[in-house]
Amino acid sequence: MTKISKIAVIGSGTMGSNIAALIASAGYSVLLFDIASNDKDRSSIAKKAIENILSSPLKPLMDKSLSKNITPANLDDDLKELESVDWVVEAIVENIDIKKNLYAKITQYLSKTAIISSNTSTIPLKDLVKDLDENFATQFVITHFFNPPRYLDLLEFVTLENTKPEVIETIKNFCEITLGKQIVNCKDTPGFIANRIGCYWLEQGLRIAIQENVPIDMADKAVAEYTGIPKTGVFGLWDLIGIDLMPMITKSTVSNLSDSDDYVKISKDKVDIVDKLIAEKRLGRKTKAGFYKIEKSDSGNKTLITDLKTGEYIESSGSKIEKIENLKYIQSLPSNYGRFVWRLTYKMLNYAAGLIPSAAYNIKDIDTAMKEGYGWKYGPFELIDMLSDDKQVGAEWLRIHIEILGEKPALLLKEIGNKKFYNNDTYFDNGNYKPVSQENIITYKKLSTLPPIIESKSAKLVDIGNDILCLMLTNKMGVLDSDAFDVIIKSVSYMDKNPFDGMIIAGDEDNFCAGADVNNFIAYHENKEFDKVAELLKHGQLAMNTIKNSVKPVVCAINGVAFGGGCELALHAKGVQIHANSKVGLVETRIGLIPGWGGCKEMVMKPFRSTNITRPSQEIVNNFNLVFNAINSDSAMEAINLGYLSVNSTQITFNKKRLLEDAKQYAIKLAKNKTLAYPSFVMIDAELINDKVASIVNVANLLPHEKKIMEILLKIFTTKGKSIIKDEEMNDMEVDGFIDLIKTDATYQRMVSLIKNRKVLKN
Ligand code: NAI
Repeated sequence: MTKISKIAVIGSGTMGSNIAALIASAGYSVLLFDIASNDKDRSSIAKKAIENILSSPLKPLMDKSLSKNITPANLDDDLKELESVDWVVEAIVENIDIKKNLYAKITQYLSKTAIISSNTSTIPLKDLVKDLDENFATQFVITHFFNPPRYLDLLEFVTLENTKPEVIETIKNFCEITLGKQIVNCKDTPGFIANRIGCYWLEQGLRIAIQENVPIDMADKAVAEYTGIPKTGVFGLWDLIGIDLMPMITKSTVSNLSDSDDYVKISKDKVDIVDKLIAEKRLGRKTKAGFYKIEKSDSGNKTLITDLKTGEYIESSGSKIEKIENLKYIQSLPSNYGRFVWRLTYKMLNYAAGLIPSAAYNIKDIDTAMKEGYGWKYGPFELIDMLSDDKQVGAEWLRIHIEILGEKPALLLKEIGNKKFYNNDTYFDNGNYKPVSQENIITYKKLSTLPPIIESKSAKLVDIGNDILCLMLTNKMGVLDSDAFDVIIKSVSYMDKNPFDGMIIAGDEDNFCAGADVNNFIAYHENKEFDKVAELLKHGQLAMNTIKNSVKPVVCAINGVAFGGGCELALHAKGVQIHANSKVGLVETRIGLIPGWGGCKEMVMKPFRSTNITRPSQEIVNNFNLVFNAINSDSAMEAINLGYLSVNSTQITFNKKRLLEDAKQYAIKLAKNKTLAYPSFVMIDAELINDKVASIVNVANLLPHEKKIMEILLKIFTTKGKSIIKDEEMNDMEVDGFIDLIKTDATYQRMVSLIKNRKVLKN
């Protein structure tokens, strides 16, 4: 395997700049090339792209500081820089001639071992490498990233028979482990897998919606409700991709497909409304108007939808979608939106089944591509299995229904007969069932099958092998409550008394832990049950300190969010294994509260864990600022840079499928090495902290409740003026402050506003 150290991305447009940002976020230096400009600064195109990355609300870089890893370059003056590059990612315009001209220009500069990959969406690899230098051609692959590459994990990977095995191994390994991608091997066919199915589905969706005369918002709601597609549905996705871009993608894809392909057939049927939208510059989200348009007014936002008959905007009816129990019932729904979903879905499923073996190696790859690339909850073959009932499996039912409609079912639907595509952890492949995963790593799916050692309604403890335990938070979004705290306390005690080396704490596949259930606090306020609040806080503090003082390491496996109590778990654990895109923060002040399960305490004590700082007043003030302003990170790296997590006890995982295994290995490592003991008391420069806070918070500008929260927090962060303070005293101060706040109407209003209106109230 070749070691990849230096990378160049050529093309600093949408994809190139975002891919460069992902590589930079993984800690690698990357040269970002574009054509030389006529400006004084010849690399100004790439430089502008870096500026755009930094200002983009989508935050392609995981922390702004990482932009130092990207160097702008141009294709006239900096080509010599390519000599030391190990991997070149080409992401220039989708035009085969322009791409080939570029390859001709750069070949002479590349080393004999350099790997090159194209990000093309539609051009087959065999056409890209035709007439290229022989060595160069065997080191050339397609790495098709999805937009935005930071968040969409799919990477479609295409090679040819003569591609060098070490090239395949190197790029796959780098993209999978370092960049966290889910790699799907695709055959060298136009559009590969995800866009071939996804764009076919979008084109079909548009045509069927017109035929069925279904309002676009009802079409989108129904397809999301019944088939687990993201809320954008068909028309929201047209708007997201760009109404002008879709015809280009379709044109390029179908130009390389045979006439018998259904995508080619439907693409010949022109749709006037697309031309009208393009002519009127209603290109989708980028022009703030497309199939949908949000009309802003003083009385609130109104969503307008395009009437598919007239092309004009009309108001949405806001009607609801009928619920169904089994997906197969969509076939008999009387509504136009029901017929729309059924027709679109059976056509898509049949089309997907027809791509084996021509475009995909197996059904699992197709399902992964649609789930990771388009965010579908279920892949096409999972959907087909969902059409099953006691009497008949989905594949057979679907085949028969397609035949009844006088259409031709895909061969695979005949081949599988009356069997399911998935059977336990195996999938149907060429007449046999093969294991879905060959890797022996711990996954969320595996976790859910393990027998509990300790269990309550909110958490359970399981043995994940190699003498490591896993405490699973089982409430929705890992919400913490008394039941969860009970299990935490019992689990740490169980670990200490039995021959286990460590424990990891995990949420579910989407989120680690969103803290407490705010509804409970609203009820406590309404019923004036403030003793119950104090009890819950003390219970939580005990659980957190049990984790902190455990002789064996506890590692939090964070993904999605670690807010409030979730962040407090991380602050008390010996180690944190965190997925790169996780959000971390003590965000309690948004609802007029403060961290009450040891969060304030740890934000004061944590800076003392660094061996070389004796009086870390500046760090404490920084932490005060985080808590007071409820700042959360948008990435793991940002959580470290902000100060929530320590660089010495945090490891970042890019590949979300590996998070639990990485956390487990980290616990094993920590069990072997002695980690620093946490201080049980700290010495504070209260006056200094007071002064510094006064310099960053303008009290005169604060609203009344903000001022109250600030005063309470400041008392805790300056330990009420005591210079030496113990852990337990800090905990008591938190409880007092929390109770003081939850009694107020202003905090109540904030909590209600968040729960009822999803709005953070300032008061
Ligand atoms: P873009 O239009 O945003 O950027 C293209 C870049 O190529 C521009 O910065 C342009 O200055 C540069 N360029 C133009 N001519 C050039 C030349 N002769 N030499 C060097 N650079 C040149 O395009 P985008 O969307 O970033 O697409 C790039 C590639 O990625 C295409 O192959 C596209 O099919 C593929 N792709 C695009 C996706 C998307 O959502 N936009 C998703 C996945 C793949």
